[in-house]
Amino acid sequence: MTARKQRGIPLSSLNPKFLHTNSTSHTWPFGAIAELVDNAYDPDVRAKQFWIDWTRIKGLDCLSFMDNGAGMNRAKLHKMLSFGFSDKKSVREHVPVGIYGNGFKSGSMRLGTDAIVFTKTRNSMSIGLLSQSYLQAIKAQQIMVPMVTFRRDEQNQVEDAASFAAILAYSLFSTEKELFSELRAVSAVGPTGTRIIIWNLRTTTSGETEFDFDTDKYDIQIRANATEKTRESWATIPESRYSLRAYCSILYLKPRMQINIRGQRVKTQLISKSLAHIANDNYRPSFLTKRIRITFGFNTKSREHHGIMMYHKNRLIKAYERVSCQRKTERKGVGVIGVIECNFLQPTHNKQDFDDTDKYRKTMHNLSIKLEEYWNEIRYKRKKEDPKCTVPIEDTVKVPDQVWVQCDSCLKWRRLPDGFDCSRLPEKWFCNMNHDPQFRSCMVEEELEDQEEEQKLSTLCDQLKCELEKLKKETDGRGREDIAVGEERRKLKNLRFKVGHLLVSFIPALNLQQVDFNSEVIDKLLDQVLEEVRLTQLKAA
Ligand SMILES: Nc1ncnc2c1ncn2[C@@H]1O[C@H](COP(=O)(O)OP(=O)(O)OP(=O)(O)O)[C@@H](O)[C@H]1O
Ligand SMILES: [Mg+2]
Ligand SMILES: [Zn+2]
Repeated sequence: MTARKQRGIPLSSLNPKFLHTNSTSHTWPFGAIAELVDNAYDPDVRAKQFWIDWTRIKGLDCLSFMDNGAGMNRAKLHKMLSFGFSDKKSVREHVPVGIYGNGFKSGSMRLGTDAIVFTKTRNSMSIGLLSQSYLQAIKAQQIMVPMVTFRRDEQNQVEDAASFAAILAYSLFSTEKELFSELRAVSAVGPTGTRIIIWNLRTTTSGETEFDFDTDKYDIQIRANATEKTRESWATIPESRYSLRAYCSILYLKPRMQINIRGQRVKTQLISKSLAHIANDNYRPSFLTKRIRITFGFNTKSREHHGIMMYHKNRLIKAYERVSCQRKTERKGVGVIGVIECNFLQPTHNKQDFDDTDKYRKTMHNLSIKLEEYWNEIRYKRKKEDPKCTVPIEDTVKVPDQVWVQCDSCLKWRRLPDGFDCSRLPEKWFCNMNHDPQFRSCMVEEELEDQEEEQKLSTLCDQLKCELEKLKKETDGRGREDIAVGEERRKLKNLRFKVGHLLVSFIPALNLQQVDFNSEVIDKLLDQVLEEVRLTQLKAA
């Protein structure tokens, strides 16, 4: 292609070699995949579902990533293919993972040399090519990103002619028909969305792809290299290091998006709720005014995999990071996992570590102290309960303290009765199957964690009290003959019913079966609870 023929193709001032250099920040390939997952998860895109697949196109191994999120118009797609543009904002409590404007580029170019993006919004469809092979073939001195945009009536813009020609010549798709069939794949999963295909995947020194697609046909695994010949010798390595399915199941502290790998849904794990002997602790770093919650517990699957699961804005940064007491020869804290969300630390560019700052070191030091305290306490308790027992706690069989299940429709987490046998769960589970009537609908908010629960409860009590008083005044102030009174009384009764329900969730021993909701019994109870809550708060302060 001559320079004249390339006119109209968007270009940047960076040299193509930068694409490779930039990708080397991802030493671990799953870190690169996580960048693509994050982009679909972030609040500007908010995909409900995400698909990761291995496919063969024209004899070449490819990875494909598809989401049914918001998609991109031409301007956004251009930013995606360029460097350093990121203007993501939080939407309510959904905080974006993306900050640097680099994840797509570093991630995709780590996995393979070439990538093509298909994206759809309500008004447009666009295709963009980020390809090192193409740039090499045309001996480009600057990164060029061919892009075409179609209106949804499939008419492309005239200035896209050069881009279109480049895409047909250098992508895996040599006809318009083939390109449209990829765009249709996006339509199949929703009105808007994005599909990324990466090819010329990175290979090992022996020429195989770095991923193993055969060992498990529903997973994508990192190939064991020659020195780690068998998976058995990997037993000491947590599964999430080499199985994409296992990694994706813990990638977000509170998952908001369903991930599918090779056609099978990833069962996300609420790691802090899959532990045994759970204890919550708080940590207030000297440089913060707020307390940070840490959840400790024992790994119920393998005692060898322990350490801290460190999240940042809901996204896993470091997994099984051992603290100093777990690294010593006397091996304290064997089997103990800690879960913490460190929004006060700064992740490194590849989002697999934190910047090694004073804050980071202080945090790790304190986590070690806290973890050791937890470990000692659990062992002390055990000794007290059963003084003759000689089996160390880490060697006993453990079951998770709580059983949680995720609704396949609304993706909210629901708690199952203690001791519930998970093998009895159906393949798909929905809120309307819940044992607990209080959480038997997708419309009901997720059950709160204890700590949040206490805080929210007192505000909720206050609100309800105000409402009750307002309603009572309205009812009393009217004559008996007023027709509206019947309606008001019904409202009042309903409200008391709600208050009753709330109180039971707070004080399970409360029996409201005989209560007359027309009377003021509930109002008085509410007053008492409010008083209690205040006293506890005062004490805590
Ligand atoms: N799947 C997607 N759907 C819609 N828009 C996307 C998608 N992937 C990327 N984008 C857009 O492309 C931009 C660039 O993505 P990129 O991952 O390179 O940077 P970022 O997410 O903003 O920051 P970071 O480098 O921290 O990941 C995003 O800001 C977003 O606007
Ligand atoms: Mg990103
Ligand atoms: Zn639901």
